[in-house]
Order: sequence, then structure tokens, then C-alpha cells
Amino acid sequence: MPIQNTSPASEQNIVLTGFMGTGKSSVARELAHLLGRGVIDLDTEIEKNAGMSIASIFAAFGEPRFRELETDAARQAAEKRAAIISTGGGIVLKSENMEALRASGVIFCLTASPETILKRTSVNRERPLLQVPDPLGKITELLNARGPYYRGSCDYMIDTEGKTPKEIAQEIREKFTLARA
Ligand code: S3P
Repeated sequence: MPIQNTSPASEQNIVLTGFMGTGKSSVARELAHLLGRGVIDLDTEIEKNAGMSIASIFAAFGEPRFRELETDAARQAAEKRAAIISTGGGIVLKSENMEALRASGVIFCLTASPETILKRTSVNRERPLLQVPDPLGKITELLNARGPYYRGSCDYMIDTEGKTPKEIAQEIREKFTLARA
């Protein structure tokens, strides 16, 4: 990836990307605990800034407006230093999002199988894109379409299958320490 990371090592953010249900939020919490850093969750920031839930933003204004709000939140988060930034699954769709985040830290993309993603995302109805008659088919379709973006915009891919959030956080901490060395 050609974009240069310009932050000093100790100030670099840890940015978590990956599809819905790959565990970004729980891993971010574990990392915050391990490293004594704060978490910025972009979905939460979008909801705070808009004063409404993501489902309501999609319903009232549609996905394009949500993507604009997401880009604003990514830009704001990229200004922060030494944070753990947990992103929404579609953050990789706009190169400007990833350029801003990339310049602020090291990017880890979490992966999981479509079946695991279905299991983890079907516990609630918070994700508008998956409220369809065939969520597994939708997950597979989106994963195929987004795969190159996830792979092409991260420093490390982290397989989450069969691992606890704590184990994943430890794996990321090791890689982050090496990346900064
Ligand atoms: C989305 C992922 C969601 C949220 C929105 C859209 C996506 O975040 O930003 O529903 O396009 O993949 P999570 O990945 O945290 O579920």
C-alpha cells in the first residue's frame, strides 16, 4: 500500500477493520485493556454525531448519507493519537477513509467464515444490510465484493475463527509491537 504512515511509533493508532461480526468491537475492548488505551468506535461516533441509531440513519436517509457520516467520523478519528479505532464493516469502500486511517496507524483486518458471521450477527437486528430474507447469501455476496478492499487496505489479516477476543487482542499486540519496532 503506497500511503505513508507519518505518526511517531508511540502515538500510532491501532485500526481494526473487517466485515460485520468479525469481532472488532470486542477485540477493541480487549486491546484497550491490554494496552491501557482508549477505544474510538466509529459506529458509536456516527450515532453520537447524528443523534440517532445506525438503523434509523439508514431508514431515514439511506446508505449514501450513512457513508458520508462514516467518512466524517473516520476523518475525526484519524486525528487522534495512541487510540484503538474500531471501524464499521463498510469503511474500506472509500479509499479516502483508508488513506486517513492508514496515515494514523497500523491496520488489522479481522476475518471469519460466512457461517460464523451469520451466527454472530443474527443475535440482534442492528445491521440494516443484513435484514434480508437470505442473510447468509447476502453475507457471501458482500464478502466477495469487499474482499479485495479488506485485503488491499490492511497491514495484517487476522483470522478470528476459534479464537477468543483476548487471544486475538494478544496476537494483534505482538504484531503491533513488531510493526512499530
Ligand atoms: C456496515 C457495518 C456496520 C455498520 C453499518 C454498515 C457495513 O458496522 O457500520 O451497519 O456496511 O458492513 P459493524 O461492522 O460494526 O457491524
